[in-house]
Amino acid sequence: MYKKAIYPGSFDPITKGHLDIIKRSSKLFDKIVIAVLVNYNKKNTWFTVEERIKIIQETLLIENIEAEVVAFSGLLVDFIEEQEANILIRGLRAVSDYEYELQFTLFNSELAKTNFETIFLTANRKYLYLSSSIVKEIAINNGELTNFLTDNTIKWVEEKIKRGNNGN
Ligand code: PNS
Repeated sequence: MYKKAIYPGSFDPITKGHLDIIKRSSKLFDKIVIAVLVNYNKKNTWFTVEERIKIIQETLLIENIEAEVVAFSGLLVDFIEEQEANILIRGLRAVSDYEYELQFTLFNSELAKTNFETIFLTANRKYLYLSSSIVKEIAINNGELTNFLTDNTIKWVEEKIKRGNNGN
């Protein structure tokens, strides 16, 4: 069976933790679609959806990973149906992710009109507590980012801080 997997998220911005999940997924599935959530409920992101997509595409090119990057809005299950995907990938970090992921998976399967399986990949030990939010906090306080973000992504973050339009 052809395995088409969706890896959704906000990716504001993509971290080395995300990248690790994408790399490992690309060895498991035939096609990966990275689904970038368009801002909703005026939820503030540092980067526009276009910028987040650009950063991911740039990173994939540098890392030589084949995956499609697409914006999505609305329910994830509807996007999965539209894409005719049969796998949903989620990265699982510390125990604190578990409650949300369980709820997310159960409601997704309740809402789904098509068949897909949710596959959890445990985060690499190095990235167990890594998140885009913590990275942004480190960044605005001039902390070292090389362990958490790729060099091209760091440039985007530094530029955003320099321009001062990062919602702070
Ligand atoms: O980067 P995140 O916060 O892990 O991404 C969460 C995301 C985008 C996967 C999730 O919020 C999502 O799929 N939102 C779309 C709306 C939806 O389908 N929600 C689930 C209903 S149960």
